[in-house]
Amino acid sequence: MTVHFIGAGPGAPDLLTLRGRDLIAASPVCLYAGSLVPEGVLAHCPPGARIVNTAPMSLDEIIAEIAGAHAAGLDVARLHSGDLSIWSAMGEQLRRLRALGIPYSVTPGVPSFSAAAAALEAELTLPGLAQTVVLTRTPGRASAMPEGEKLAAFAATGAVLAIHLSIHLLDQVVAELTPHYGADCPVAIVWRASWPEQRIVRATLATLGAFVGGEMERTALILVGKTLGAADFDESRLYAADYDRRYRPVGAEPRFPEAS
Ligand SMILES: C[S@@+](CC[C@H](N)C(=O)[O-])C[C@H]1O[C@@H](n2cnc3c(N)ncnc32)[C@H](O)[C@@H]1O
Repeated sequence: MTVHFIGAGPGAPDLLTLRGRDLIAASPVCLYAGSLVPEGVLAHCPPGARIVNTAPMSLDEIIAEIAGAHAAGLDVARLHSGDLSIWSAMGEQLRRLRALGIPYSVTPGVPSFSAAAAALEAELTLPGLAQTVVLTRTPGRASAMPEGEKLAAFAATGAVLAIHLSIHLLDQVVAELTPHYGADCPVAIVWRASWPEQRIVRATLATLGAFVGGEMERTALILVGKTLGAADFDESRLYAADYDRRYRPVGAEPRFPEAS
């Protein structure tokens, strides 16, 4: 018996990995984390599977459910939205399972920041503009931020920020970032990336307020940085005609002659 932790992707059912799909189809128990895991993903569960929404459950109750499946020798598919490496609460579950001696596996998923970038048709790292993406959030009621992880500290680097779990604090985010990026810095907000109801707003830190207001759907990413919508950036050296490299030796004395 194994508990398969599976990244269920950002929303579109066909953005699930093939491995994730096959593990779901082979597991008679499926625990999924609330409304962000789409019905289409649950459709891969085998007929008669026990399917449990863990959104209203405590960690103790979730572990009890898993321990019950373990005692019965039933594999469990444990689904969390996006990828498991960020804000999935997988860490605390794995720690409990290790203590109980219950085997598990981990299968990655498409994270929401990738889906949002795809919706924007954007490469977030462009030569000469930004080469770092920071995946971050603002503090929440249930999650304080460690002392050094202030938005302003990341902003001071000029990196592209992918700000999760923070759309309800949009005014505060804009106020904190404007001194560092400048009022004309591009911003994009993607609500429910890859879902049928996906919505995109592109603006600048100065103009964002005019496009976004009132009660907002919470499942949204705020992306901030110079690369968003940029047309004026360098081409990468890697594909430059005169760039000598292992797979494409150039010139009379290539650096990697054995590859030619
Ligand atoms: C608990 S975190 C889960 C993150 C997830 N593990 C991931 O890999 O993206 C939930 C937050 O992720 C972001 N998010 C998740 N799915 C999204 C989507 N389809 N579109 C935009 N943002 C999304 C939102 O900021 C949301 O508040």
